[in-house]
Amino acid sequence: MSKTIIEMKNVSFQYEYTQVLNNISFKVNEGDFLAILGPNGSGKSTLLKILLGLLKPLAGEIKLFGQPNDTFRHREWIGYVSQKSNAFNSGFPATVEEVVKSGLAKKVGLFKRMPNDAAKQVQDALKAVGMESFRGKNIGELSGGQQQRVFIARALIAKPKVLVLDEPTVGIDHENVQSFYDMLVSLNKEQNITIILVTHDVDTVSNRISHVACLNQTIHFHGYKQEFDEISQEQLDKWQGHAVRKIH
Ligand SMILES: Nc1ncnc2c1ncn2[C@@H]1O[C@H](COP(=O)(O)OP(=O)(O)O)[C@@H](O)[C@H]1O
Ligand SMILES: [Mg+2]
Repeated sequence: MSKTIIEMKNVSFQYEYTQVLNNISFKVNEGDFLAILGPNGSGKSTLLKILLGLLKPLAGEIKLFGQPNDTFRHREWIGYVSQKSNAFNSGFPATVEEVVKSGLAKKVGLFKRMPNDAAKQVQDALKAVGMESFRGKNIGELSGGQQQRVFIARALIAKPKVLVLDEPTVGIDHENVQSFYDMLVSLNKEQNITIILVTHDVDTVSNRISHVACLNQTIHFHGYKQEFDEISQEQLDKWQGHAVRKIH
């Protein structure tokens, strides 16, 4: 049995006037590759922010690695690549190396000394995302997909156990999306990093993930990818508000 590393129980959340999440319960086990799917405005980004401790839930309970969220002391175990992180213009004055190295701050603390092998760690993180030859380039000169890989390397250098990604392929060329997801699969399989991915690329990710969660204010489905393939059109309609048809 693999370990439960993330657990939410009856979590609800609202912004000032909008009820966004209602009674959310689910678990993520070590080694899972979970895709969170849902229409725009269904609360996906909000759910991730709650999980990361950036927003406080109105009600409910969250445990990370068995610890209550409030007292969890190992934020560096959870790497986060936010929505639209890859929005640098070509004049942005930082090299790929500098961006990746800044990810170490989370681990060593902002004002402590960088480790002696920081350069080697940058190298390893860039290698894991297939970007080692871009190390001296300016971040702004890279394509959206390349920038996104660099941001994953920045998260990886803190040696996370979980990687949380919010719509990472927005702005990536269609032909590069497949190889981007293949890279996530290799992080999941070869480095045993648990992955929580918010995406709209249902068809592209479907043969790469282990689990699916369907969100729209509440969890309409959560289970193995194989079970998701069997859910009814009626259930899909209820989840998506009749917006999208099942494509296979
Ligand atoms: N900072 C905020 N203040 C008020 N409402 C917000 C805020 N952020 C998001 N919302 C609203 O909460 C709902 C869910 O947003 P979000 O979690 O970003 O959805 P998703 O990521 O699934 O598109 C939307 O109705 C959105 O307009
Ligand atoms: Mg979002």
